Amino acid sequence: MKRFKVAVVGATGAVGRQMLAILEERSFPVSEVIPLASPRSAGRKIPFGGAELTVRALEPGAFAGVELALFSAGATVSREMGPLAAQAGALVVDNSSAWRMDPEVPLVVPEVNLEAARKRPRGIIANPNCSTIQMVVALEPLRAAAGLRRIVVSTYQAVSGKGARAVDELVRATEAHLKGAPIPPAIFPSSMAFNVLADWKPAEAGYTEEEIKMVNESRKIWSDPALRVSATTVRVPVLNGHTESVLVETERKLTVADAKRLLRDAPGVILCDDATQPMPTLASGRDEVFVGRIREDLSTDNGLCLIVAADNLRKGAALDAVQIAEALLSSAAS
Ligand SMILES: NC(=O)c1ccc[n+]([C@@H]2O[C@H](COP(=O)([O-])OP(=O)(O)OC[C@H]3O[C@@H](n4cnc5c(N)ncnc54)[C@H](OP(=O)(O)O)[C@@H]3O)[C@@H](O)[C@H]2O)c1
Repeated sequence: MKRFKVAVVGATGAVGRQMLAILEERSFPVSEVIPLASPRSAGRKIPFGGAELTVRALEPGAFAGVELALFSAGATVSREMGPLAAQAGALVVDNSSAWRMDPEVPLVVPEVNLEAARKRPRGIIANPNCSTIQMVVALEPLRAAAGLRRIVVSTYQAVSGKGARAVDELVRATEAHLKGAPIPPAIFPSSMAFNVLADWKPAEAGYTEEEIKMVNESRKIWSDPALRVSATTVRVPVLNGHTESVLVETERKLTVADAKRLLRDAPGVILCDDATQPMPTLASGRDEVFVGRIREDLSTDNGLCLIVAADNLRKGAALDAVQIAEALLSSAAS
């Protein structure tokens, strides 16, 4: 069986660490794994496959011989280094926002549009934003059966979506708050302890960048540029696992029973029974997207309301990237 030389860019970060864990868990056929990060982390040891890997500083020559490069070190790094990795011959799967809306870069969620990954003129494939991924996985079976007319989504996003330092900040801010000695925030614009806030940059028409990403990315994934999507994204003091409240209006009516039947067999989805709510504590550490609390919307004719929860670091980022790589490299591996 062929084995691949794999570079993980951002290996010390919240997503990068999950990438290493997932490569190991899924026995991805690796000949060598090269963990890359900023010069701050060069020389650091990280566990992989029962041994220790030494983190290297990312530099342009780092991709010699690399066949798969998984990027999660932010958009600036991806913009600069992604093309270099592709030129060196690597299949590049990028988790940042750098390439998502580039018409020459497919934006891929394997359960939804894997076929888009076959055409990649830049040699780069983009992973959507974490909040988009779990929404499209949950809605794809409904879309395929009844068409989509409109989506209204509100998110409840975990702090791990902002990286490893954001998780530390919530823990420290919570402890400080409980001791009655609040600390000033560094990563978030206000303290996240016992708080709810939209911490993304403003984009257009009063929406944040995160909200606009959900609109544009779902349109691109479903090749439906006119799809009506409206998003409100909010951060909550949860360490890991994003939750979403989704109102979906379909072209043809689906009953709650129809939706449950479709979701029960959907790839990557766990349909929660009526006694179980999709929650971040249920989804964190799991690969599947949890869907539940399915109700007929009371304000539209063809509307369904549902709650969707998933691990933003796994299905929302690292797992999606590894699944794309598995699908594209599997023929070469056998
Ligand atoms: N967190 C999520 O749920 C999520 C979901 C989807 C997509 N993403 C995307 O994934 C990317 C990483 O997110 P994260 O949450 O893992 O962030 P993070 O925890 O802050 O980790 C960032 C990683 O990038 C590395 N890095 C930073 N600057 C670098 C540079 N100049 N050269 C090389 N490496 C550099 C860091 O290395 P050092 O440790 O050396 O600083 C670290 O390994 C972002 O683009 C984010 O938008 C995140």
